[in-house]
Amino acid sequence: MQILQDKKIVLGISGGIAAYKTPELVRRLKEQGADVRVVMTEGAKAFITPLTLQAVSGNPVSDSLLDTQAELAMGHIELAKWADIIIIAPATADIIARIACGMANDLLSTLCLATTAPIAIAPAMNQQMWHAKATQENTEKLAERGCHIWGPGSGEQACGDVGLGRMLEVDELVTLSSDFFADKYLDNQHWLITAGPTREAIDPVRYISNHSSGKMGYAIAHAAVRAGAKVTLISGPVAIPAPAGCKLISVNSAEEMHQQALKFAPSSTTFVACAAVADYRVANVASQKIKKSKDAMQLELVRNHDIVADVASLENKPFMVGFAAETQNVEHYARGKLMRKNLDLIAANDVAKAGQGFNSDNNALTLFSAIDKTEIPLANKKIVANHLVSLINQHFLAKKS
Ligand code: C5P
Repeated sequence: MQILQDKKIVLGISGGIAAYKTPELVRRLKEQGADVRVVMTEGAKAFITPLTLQAVSGNPVSDSLLDTQAELAMGHIELAKWADIIIIAPATADIIARIACGMANDLLSTLCLATTAPIAIAPAMNQQMWHAKATQENTEKLAERGCHIWGPGSGEQACGDVGLGRMLEVDELVTLSSDFFADKYLDNQHWLITAGPTREAIDPVRYISNHSSGKMGYAIAHAAVRAGAKVTLISGPVAIPAPAGCKLISVNSAEEMHQQALKFAPSSTTFVACAAVADYRVANVASQKIKKSKDAMQLELVRNHDIVADVASLENKPFMVGFAAETQNVEHYARGKLMRKNLDLIAANDVAKAGQGFNSDNNALTLFSAIDKTEIPLANKKIVANHLVSLINQHFLAKKS
Protein backbone atom coordinates (compact mmCIF):
# COMPACT_ATOMS: atom_id res chain seq x y z
CA MET A 1 0.00 0.00 0.00
CA GLN A 2 1.22 3.49 -0.77
CA ILE A 3 2.09 5.58 2.29
CA LEU A 4 -0.28 8.38 1.28
CA GLN A 5 -3.18 6.00 0.64
CA ASP A 6 -6.37 7.54 2.10
CA LYS A 7 -4.43 10.31 3.85
CA LYS A 8 -6.53 13.46 4.13
CA ILE A 9 -4.52 16.44 2.99
CA VAL A 10 -5.69 20.05 3.09
CA LEU A 11 -3.56 21.95 0.61
CA GLY A 12 -3.53 25.65 1.44
CA ILE A 13 -2.49 27.82 -1.48
CA SER A 14 -1.48 31.41 -0.86
CA GLY A 15 -0.77 34.15 -3.38
CA GLY A 16 2.64 33.54 -4.88
CA ILE A 17 3.72 32.82 -8.44
CA ALA A 18 4.65 29.26 -7.42
CA ALA A 19 0.89 28.67 -7.11
CA TYR A 20 0.99 27.75 -10.79
CA LYS A 21 2.70 24.48 -9.78
CA THR A 22 -0.05 23.41 -7.38
CA PRO A 23 -2.34 21.56 -9.83
CA GLU A 24 0.60 19.24 -10.52
CA LEU A 25 1.19 18.88 -6.78
CA VAL A 26 -2.46 17.94 -6.23
CA ARG A 27 -2.32 15.46 -9.10
CA ARG A 28 0.83 13.80 -7.74
CA LEU A 29 -0.54 13.57 -4.18
CA LYS A 30 -3.72 12.00 -5.52
CA GLU A 31 -1.72 9.56 -7.61
CA GLN A 32 -0.20 8.37 -4.32
CA GLY A 33 -3.67 7.73 -2.94
CA ALA A 34 -4.23 10.93 -0.92
CA ASP A 35 -7.58 12.69 -0.69
CA VAL A 36 -6.81 16.38 -1.29
CA ARG A 37 -9.01 19.37 -0.42
CA VAL A 38 -7.78 22.74 -1.58
CA VAL A 39 -8.15 25.98 0.35
CA MET A 40 -7.14 29.18 -1.43
CA THR A 41 -6.45 32.69 -0.20
CA GLU A 42 -7.74 35.66 -2.16
CA GLY A 43 -4.19 36.27 -3.44
CA ALA A 44 -3.89 32.70 -4.70
CA LYS A 45 -6.86 33.21 -6.99
CA ALA A 46 -4.94 35.91 -8.85
CA PHE A 47 -2.44 33.23 -9.93
CA ILE A 48 -4.54 30.12 -10.47
CA THR A 49 -8.25 29.44 -10.74
CA PRO A 50 -10.32 27.46 -8.21
CA LEU A 51 -11.88 25.64 -11.16
CA THR A 52 -8.50 24.14 -12.14
CA LEU A 53 -7.88 22.94 -8.60
CA GLN A 54 -11.38 21.58 -8.25
CA ALA A 55 -10.92 19.63 -11.48
CA VAL A 56 -7.59 18.06 -10.44
CA SER A 57 -8.52 17.42 -6.80
CA GLY A 58 -11.99 16.10 -7.56
CA ASN A 59 -13.23 18.04 -4.52
CA PRO A 60 -14.82 21.47 -4.10
CA VAL A 61 -12.29 24.23 -3.46
CA SER A 62 -12.82 26.37 -0.36
CA ASP A 63 -11.86 30.01 -0.40
CA SER A 64 -14.17 31.89 1.91
CA LEU A 65 -14.76 31.98 5.62
CA LEU A 66 -18.04 33.81 5.50
CA ASP A 67 -19.81 31.99 2.68
CA THR A 68 -23.11 30.47 3.78
CA GLN A 69 -23.14 27.91 0.95
CA ALA A 70 -19.57 26.82 1.64
CA GLU A 71 -20.23 26.51 5.35
CA LEU A 72 -23.20 24.28 4.51
CA ALA A 73 -21.01 21.90 2.48
CA MET A 74 -17.95 21.47 4.70
CA GLY A 75 -17.56 24.18 7.30
CA HIS A 76 -14.17 25.45 8.34
CA ILE A 77 -14.20 23.61 11.66
CA GLU A 78 -15.17 20.38 9.93
CA LEU A 79 -12.34 20.88 7.42
CA ALA A 80 -9.91 21.58 10.26
CA LYS A 81 -10.94 18.28 11.92
CA TRP A 82 -10.94 16.34 8.63
CA ALA A 83 -7.27 17.00 7.84
CA ASP A 84 -4.49 14.54 8.65
CA ILE A 85 -2.11 17.34 7.66
CA ILE A 86 -2.40 20.89 6.37
CA ILE A 87 0.26 21.68 3.77
CA ILE A 88 0.60 25.31 2.76
CA ALA A 89 2.33 25.55 -0.62
CA PRO A 90 3.27 28.12 -1.64
CA ALA A 91 3.43 29.83 1.74
CA THR A 92 3.98 33.55 1.21
CA ALA A 93 5.61 35.88 3.76
CA ASP A 94 2.10 37.17 4.43
CA ILE A 95 0.46 33.84 5.33
CA ILE A 96 3.51 32.88 7.42
CA ALA A 97 3.20 36.16 9.33
CA ARG A 98 -0.54 35.75 9.81
CA ILE A 99 -0.27 32.19 11.11
CA ALA A 100 2.63 33.17 13.38
CA CYS A 101 0.46 35.94 14.87
CA GLY A 102 -2.52 33.63 15.27
CA MET A 103 -4.73 35.69 12.99
CA ALA A 104 -8.00 34.33 11.67
CA ASN A 105 -8.86 36.82 8.97
CA ASP A 106 -9.45 34.35 6.14
CA LEU A 107 -10.29 30.69 5.77
CA LEU A 108 -6.72 29.37 5.58
CA SER A 109 -5.40 31.22 8.65
CA THR A 110 -8.55 30.26 10.58
CA LEU A 111 -8.08 26.60 9.67
CA CYS A 112 -4.53 26.72 11.01
CA LEU A 113 -5.85 27.99 14.35
CA ALA A 114 -8.78 25.57 14.45
CA THR A 115 -6.87 22.39 13.63
CA THR A 116 -5.00 19.90 15.77
CA ALA A 117 -3.49 18.38 12.63
CA PRO A 118 0.19 18.97 11.91
CA ILE A 119 0.96 21.90 9.63
CA ALA A 120 3.72 22.02 7.01
CA ILE A 121 4.63 25.16 5.12
CA ALA A 122 6.60 25.43 1.88
CA PRO A 123 7.83 29.03 1.88
CA ALA A 124 7.98 30.78 -1.49
CA MET A 125 8.98 34.40 -1.89
CA ASN A 126 11.63 36.80 -3.09
CA GLN A 127 15.00 36.06 -1.48
CA GLN A 128 15.12 39.45 0.26
CA MET A 129 11.66 38.88 1.71
CA TRP A 130 12.77 35.45 2.93
CA HIS A 131 15.87 36.89 4.58
CA ALA A 132 13.91 39.76 6.17
CA LYS A 133 14.14 39.61 9.94
CA ALA A 134 10.37 39.58 10.30
CA THR A 135 9.97 36.54 8.03
CA GLN A 136 12.83 34.71 9.71
CA GLU A 137 11.39 35.36 13.17
CA ASN A 138 7.90 34.33 12.07
CA THR A 139 9.22 31.11 10.53
CA GLU A 140 11.26 30.32 13.63
CA LYS A 141 8.20 30.90 15.77
CA LEU A 142 6.23 28.42 13.66
CA ALA A 143 9.06 25.86 13.78
CA GLU A 144 9.17 26.17 17.58
CA ARG A 145 5.46 25.42 17.69
CA GLY A 146 6.08 22.20 15.77
CA CYS A 147 5.17 23.41 12.30
CA HIS A 148 7.20 21.66 9.60
CA ILE A 149 9.18 24.00 7.38
CA TRP A 150 9.70 22.46 3.96
CA GLY A 151 12.28 24.54 2.14
CA PRO A 152 12.63 27.04 0.67
CA GLY A 153 14.87 25.98 -2.18
CA SER A 154 17.51 28.10 -3.78
CA GLY A 155 17.93 29.24 -7.37
CA GLU A 156 16.56 31.65 -9.92
CA GLN A 157 13.38 33.42 -8.88
CA ALA A 158 10.44 34.65 -10.92
CA CYS A 159 11.48 38.26 -10.21
CA GLY A 160 14.96 37.62 -11.63
CA ASP A 161 16.75 37.46 -8.28
CA VAL A 162 18.82 34.44 -7.41
CA GLY A 163 18.88 32.95 -3.92
CA LEU A 164 16.87 31.23 -1.22
CA GLY A 165 13.11 31.58 -1.47
CA ARG A 166 11.94 29.26 -4.24
CA MET A 167 9.15 26.85 -3.37
CA LEU A 168 10.52 23.30 -3.29
CA GLU A 169 9.86 21.36 -6.47
CA VAL A 170 6.67 19.29 -6.68
CA ASP A 171 8.71 16.06 -6.52
CA GLU A 172 10.36 17.17 -3.29
CA LEU A 173 7.04 18.18 -1.73
CA VAL A 174 5.48 14.83 -2.62
CA THR A 175 8.49 13.02 -1.12
CA LEU A 176 8.31 15.11 2.08
CA SER A 177 4.57 14.43 2.34
CA SER A 178 5.06 10.70 2.07
CA ASP A 179 8.10 10.80 4.42
CA PHE A 180 5.90 12.58 6.92
CA PHE A 181 3.53 9.61 7.16
CA ALA A 182 6.24 6.92 6.96
CA ASP A 183 6.73 4.60 9.93
CA LYS A 184 9.28 6.25 12.28
CA TYR A 185 10.84 3.01 13.45
CA LEU A 186 14.31 4.56 13.82
CA ASP A 187 13.19 7.16 16.33
CA ASN A 188 15.96 7.79 18.88
CA GLN A 189 18.65 6.36 16.63
CA HIS A 190 21.56 8.38 15.27
CA TRP A 191 22.92 7.15 11.97
CA LEU A 192 26.31 8.20 10.65
CA ILE A 193 26.74 7.60 6.92
CA THR A 194 29.71 8.16 4.60
CA ALA A 195 28.96 8.61 0.92
CA GLY A 196 30.43 9.57 -2.42
CA PRO A 197 34.03 9.50 -3.60
CA THR A 198 37.04 11.15 -2.03
CA ARG A 199 39.47 13.41 -3.87
CA GLU A 200 43.17 13.02 -3.23
CA ALA A 201 45.05 16.12 -4.31
CA ILE A 202 48.07 15.86 -6.62
CA ASP A 203 48.59 19.61 -6.82
CA PRO A 204 46.27 22.62 -6.41
CA VAL A 205 44.34 21.80 -9.62
CA ARG A 206 44.51 18.01 -9.98
CA TYR A 207 43.31 15.07 -7.96
CA ILE A 208 42.80 11.30 -7.96
CA SER A 209 39.21 10.13 -7.50
CA ASN A 210 36.70 7.52 -8.63
CA HIS A 211 33.28 7.19 -10.28
CA SER A 212 31.14 7.09 -7.14
CA SER A 213 28.05 9.29 -7.59
CA GLY A 214 26.99 9.19 -3.93
CA LYS A 215 23.50 8.05 -4.98
CA MET A 216 23.48 4.90 -2.82
CA GLY A 217 24.75 6.63 0.33
CA TYR A 218 22.38 9.56 -0.16
CA ALA A 219 19.47 7.17 -0.67
CA ILE A 220 20.39 5.42 2.59
CA ALA A 221 20.57 8.79 4.37
CA HIS A 222 17.14 9.67 3.01
CA ALA A 223 15.66 6.30 3.99
CA ALA A 224 17.05 6.66 7.53
CA VAL A 225 15.70 10.23 7.90
CA ARG A 226 12.34 9.04 6.61
CA ALA A 227 12.31 6.31 9.25
CA GLY A 228 12.89 8.91 11.95
CA ALA A 229 16.64 8.65 12.58
CA LYS A 230 18.85 11.62 13.25
CA VAL A 231 21.30 11.40 10.34
CA THR A 232 24.78 12.81 9.85
CA LEU A 233 25.98 12.39 6.28
CA ILE A 234 29.71 12.78 5.65
CA SER A 235 30.04 13.19 1.93
CA GLY A 236 32.80 13.55 -0.62
CA PRO A 237 32.14 15.84 -3.61
CA VAL A 238 28.98 14.80 -5.49
CA ALA A 239 26.53 16.48 -7.86
CA ILE A 240 23.33 15.62 -5.99
CA PRO A 241 21.59 17.54 -3.20
CA ALA A 242 21.65 16.21 0.36
CA PRO A 243 18.33 14.76 1.53
CA ALA A 244 16.24 17.19 3.56
CA GLY A 245 16.52 16.66 7.28
CA CYS A 246 20.04 15.30 7.51
CA LYS A 247 23.16 17.07 8.73
CA LEU A 248 25.60 17.27 5.83
CA ILE A 249 29.35 17.37 6.46
CA SER A 250 31.13 18.00 3.16
CA VAL A 251 34.69 16.77 2.82
CA ASN A 252 37.17 16.25 0.01
CA SER A 253 39.89 13.83 1.03
CA ALA A 254 39.85 10.46 2.76
CA GLU A 255 41.78 11.92 5.67
CA GLU A 256 39.14 14.63 6.17
CA MET A 257 36.42 11.96 6.02
CA HIS A 258 38.36 9.87 8.53
CA GLN A 259 38.63 12.80 10.93
CA GLN A 260 34.90 13.61 10.73
CA ALA A 261 33.85 9.95 11.03
CA LEU A 262 35.88 9.52 14.22
CA LYS A 263 34.37 12.73 15.58
CA PHE A 264 30.73 11.68 15.09
CA ALA A 265 30.98 7.89 15.54
CA PRO A 266 30.99 7.78 19.37
CA SER A 267 27.59 9.53 19.51
CA SER A 268 26.08 7.34 16.76
CA THR A 269 24.06 4.17 17.09
CA THR A 270 24.78 2.96 13.54
CA PHE A 271 27.61 3.65 11.12
CA VAL A 272 27.12 2.91 7.43
CA ALA A 273 30.30 3.25 5.39
CA CYS A 274 29.04 3.67 1.87
CA ALA A 275 31.76 6.03 0.60
CA ALA A 276 34.15 4.91 -2.10
CA VAL A 277 37.21 6.01 -0.17
CA ALA A 278 40.51 6.29 -2.04
CA ASP A 279 42.89 3.68 -0.67
CA TYR A 280 45.93 5.85 -1.34
CA ARG A 281 46.82 9.53 -1.32
CA VAL A 282 49.71 11.37 -2.89
CA ALA A 283 52.71 11.37 -0.55
CA ASN A 284 53.88 14.87 -1.37
CA VAL A 285 51.13 17.13 -2.68
CA ALA A 286 52.74 19.85 -4.83
CA SER A 287 52.04 23.33 -3.56
CA GLN A 288 52.10 24.75 -7.12
CA LYS A 289 50.64 23.34 -10.35
CA ILE A 290 53.01 20.68 -11.72
CA LYS A 291 54.32 21.66 -15.16
CA LYS A 292 54.61 19.08 -17.94
CA SER A 293 58.35 19.22 -18.43
CA LYS A 294 59.06 15.46 -18.58
CA ASP A 295 57.74 12.65 -20.82
CA ALA A 296 56.90 10.55 -17.82
CA MET A 297 56.39 11.19 -14.16
CA GLN A 298 55.85 9.15 -11.06
CA LEU A 299 53.64 9.82 -8.12
CA GLU A 300 54.38 8.25 -4.80
CA LEU A 301 51.22 7.09 -3.07
CA VAL A 302 50.76 6.25 0.60
CA ARG A 303 47.93 4.28 2.24
CA ASN A 304 44.95 6.16 3.62
CA HIS A 305 43.40 5.21 6.93
CA ASP A 306 40.68 2.59 6.66
CA ILE A 307 37.81 4.67 8.06
CA VAL A 308 35.33 1.88 8.72
CA ALA A 309 37.98 -0.35 10.31
CA ASP A 310 39.19 2.48 12.55
CA VAL A 311 35.64 3.29 13.70
CA ALA A 312 35.09 -0.44 14.34
CA SER A 313 38.07 -0.49 16.65
CA LEU A 314 36.62 2.22 18.91
CA GLU A 315 35.61 1.05 22.36
CA ASN A 316 32.16 2.66 22.12
CA LYS A 317 31.66 1.77 18.46
CA PRO A 318 28.25 2.01 16.79
CA PHE A 319 26.60 -0.89 14.95
CA MET A 320 28.92 -1.25 11.95
CA VAL A 321 27.85 -1.67 8.32
CA GLY A 322 30.34 -1.68 5.45
CA PHE A 323 30.02 -1.95 1.71
CA ALA A 324 31.92 -4.17 -0.67
CA ALA A 325 31.93 -3.29 -4.34
CA GLU A 326 33.34 -6.32 -6.09
CA THR A 327 33.81 -7.50 -9.67
CA GLN A 328 34.24 -11.23 -8.87
CA ASN A 329 34.02 -13.77 -6.00
CA VAL A 330 31.61 -11.37 -4.29
CA GLU A 331 30.70 -13.53 -1.30
CA HIS A 332 34.29 -14.59 -0.62
CA TYR A 333 35.66 -11.02 -0.64
CA ALA A 334 32.68 -9.56 1.20
CA ARG A 335 32.94 -12.08 4.03
CA GLY A 336 36.69 -11.45 4.19
CA LYS A 337 36.07 -7.73 4.71
CA LEU A 338 33.33 -8.37 7.23
CA MET A 339 35.81 -10.27 9.42
CA ARG A 340 38.94 -8.21 8.72
CA LYS A 341 37.26 -4.86 9.36
CA ASN A 342 35.35 -6.18 12.36
CA LEU A 343 31.89 -5.25 11.00
CA ASP A 344 28.41 -6.39 12.00
CA LEU A 345 27.14 -6.40 8.41
CA ILE A 346 28.48 -5.90 4.93
CA ALA A 347 26.40 -5.00 1.88
CA ALA A 348 27.99 -6.41 -1.23
CA ASN A 349 27.29 -5.52 -4.82
CA ASP A 350 28.66 -6.89 -8.03
CA VAL A 351 29.82 -3.77 -9.86
CA ALA A 352 30.75 -5.80 -12.94
CA LYS A 353 27.05 -6.37 -13.73
CA ALA A 354 25.56 -3.88 -16.20
CA GLY A 355 22.90 -1.46 -14.99
CA GLN A 356 23.73 -1.51 -11.30
CA GLY A 357 26.24 -0.15 -8.84
CA PHE A 358 28.55 2.80 -9.55
CA ASN A 359 26.82 5.84 -11.01
CA SER A 360 23.69 3.86 -11.90
CA ASP A 361 20.22 4.65 -10.52
CA ASN A 362 19.73 0.97 -9.71
CA ASN A 363 21.43 -1.50 -7.46
CA ALA A 364 21.14 -5.02 -6.08
CA LEU A 365 22.80 -5.98 -2.81
CA THR A 366 23.53 -9.02 -0.72
CA LEU A 367 23.70 -8.28 2.98
CA PHE A 368 26.04 -10.59 4.89
CA SER A 369 26.26 -11.03 8.62
CA ALA A 370 28.65 -13.49 10.24
CA ILE A 371 25.93 -16.15 10.14
CA ASP A 372 23.52 -15.38 7.31
CA LYS A 373 22.90 -13.53 4.09
CA THR A 374 19.90 -11.70 2.62
CA GLU A 375 19.37 -10.70 -1.00
CA ILE A 376 18.00 -7.26 -1.85
CA PRO A 377 16.83 -7.58 -5.45
CA LEU A 378 17.67 -5.16 -8.27
CA ALA A 379 15.62 -1.98 -7.95
CA ASN A 380 15.97 1.77 -7.86
CA LYS A 381 18.57 2.76 -5.24
CA LYS A 382 15.86 4.53 -3.21
CA ILE A 383 13.84 1.32 -2.91
CA VAL A 384 16.98 -0.72 -2.19
CA ALA A 385 17.91 1.83 0.51
CA ASN A 386 14.53 1.52 2.29
CA HIS A 387 14.89 -2.27 2.26
CA LEU A 388 18.50 -2.11 3.46
CA VAL A 389 17.76 0.36 6.28
CA SER A 390 14.99 -1.86 7.57
CA LEU A 391 17.25 -4.96 7.45
CA ILE A 392 20.09 -3.13 9.22
CA ASN A 393 17.66 -2.14 11.96
CA GLN A 394 16.47 -5.74 12.38
CA HIS A 395 20.08 -6.90 12.86
CA PHE A 396 20.77 -3.94 15.17
CA LEU A 397 17.78 -4.83 17.38
CA ALA A 398 18.70 -8.52 17.36
CA LYS A 399 22.24 -7.69 18.53
CA LYS A 400 20.93 -5.47 21.32
CA SER A 401 18.48 -8.05 22.65
O1 C5P B 1 38.55 -2.42 1.42
P1 C5P B 1 37.44 -1.83 0.62
O2 C5P B 1 37.75 -0.44 0.16
O3 C5P B 1 36.97 -2.67 -0.51
O4 C5P B 1 36.24 -1.78 1.65
C1 C5P B 1 35.04 -1.17 1.36
C2 C5P B 1 34.41 -0.70 2.63
O5 C5P B 1 35.34 -0.03 3.46
C3 C5P B 1 33.35 0.35 2.37
O6 C5P B 1 32.40 0.26 3.41
C4 C5P B 1 34.13 1.65 2.44
O7 C5P B 1 33.31 2.76 2.70
C5 C5P B 1 35.08 1.35 3.56
N1 C5P B 1 36.37 2.03 3.49
C6 C5P B 1 36.68 2.98 4.43
N2 C5P B 1 37.91 3.59 4.39
C7 C5P B 1 38.80 3.27 3.45
C8 C5P B 1 38.51 2.30 2.49
C9 C5P B 1 37.28 1.69 2.52
O8 C5P B 1 35.85 3.30 5.28
N3 C5P B 1 39.98 3.88 3.44
